[in-house]
Amino acid sequence: MTEDDKKALEGLFVNSQAFLPPRFFYNSLGGLLFEAITRLEEYTPTKDELSIFQNRIREIKKILPSDICLIDLGAGNCSKAEKILPEVCPEVFLAVDLPSKFFRNSVTRLKNSLRNQKIYALEKDFTSGLFLSEIARIVGDAIYHLDKVLFFPGSTIGNYSPIDAKNFLMSIDHDSIIIGVDLIKPEREMISAYDDSLGVTAAFNKNALLHANALLGTDFEVGNWSHKAIYNSSKSRIEMHLVAKSTHPVSSPFGKRVFSKGESIHTENSHKYSLESFKNLLLGSGYVDIYDFLHPSNRYGVFVAKRNKQS
Ligand code: AVJ
Repeated sequence: MTEDDKKALEGLFVNSQAFLPPRFFYNSLGGLLFEAITRLEEYTPTKDELSIFQNRIREIKKILPSDICLIDLGAGNCSKAEKILPEVCPEVFLAVDLPSKFFRNSVTRLKNSLRNQKIYALEKDFTSGLFLSEIARIVGDAIYHLDKVLFFPGSTIGNYSPIDAKNFLMSIDHDSIIIGVDLIKPEREMISAYDDSLGVTAAFNKNALLHANALLGTDFEVGNWSHKAIYNSSKSRIEMHLVAKSTHPVSSPFGKRVFSKGESIHTENSHKYSLESFKNLLLGSGYVDIYDFLHPSNRYGVFVAKRNKQS
């Protein structure tokens, strides 16, 4: 068991408000369930972002430096990379994601469809940072002559609180960033995106318990838990929880915990921003030359910015 897994156990069995980090969503089944979420009518971020890239990638390309290594954080099924690579044409493309067969298969498919593009994969939990030396180990010394452009789409940044987002962005070695973020919209639209009528998000949420059982040796029973999504307006975020349907014990390698009926495990925060609040987050994280590309619905934004070398 890794140190991070031990911390996750502590979060589940010691914290008064139990917490399981979002990385537990993404086993092979979770990758597929997330892909299914992105196709739901209620869940707009992925589709909005895709249309921004389709309509404005040429403008984005003009802002970027010329010889680049594009680093895709959380590349997943690589479908976004596949859409933008032919237009952006980086010297080198590096896909980064948590280790999984789902991810490895996706990179293989990408390589087969873009045979002239240099493509590398790094299986890593990037939430713990990403250093130039690690990138060089995969990509080679070419990296030292290229501008490193972080491609961080999908509003993954929303999983972090604004303070953690800043610390996270500063823990990744890069020169420029293309980042997508989900914007604040009417509350019922935000809630239904995380509590869809088919129950796909509920399955995605509960599947984290199965992944925890596999990684941590716990014995959660999915049937004992129900899915809940709320909007916390003071923190400007959607929260997902799993709520115990009855009082029951759960065991782990480090002992038991009795969850009372109605007690919850907090599984995800998904922070939402306004145009202004996200620009301020970027400024506060040491970026300059910030450009925004909003979806016409104002539901989603893509931002392009440069790291300030002085800061
Ligand atoms: C992948 C973190 C952007 O927060 O919208 C989707 C994950 N969770 N439905 C999000 C998610 C529930 C998603 N991110």
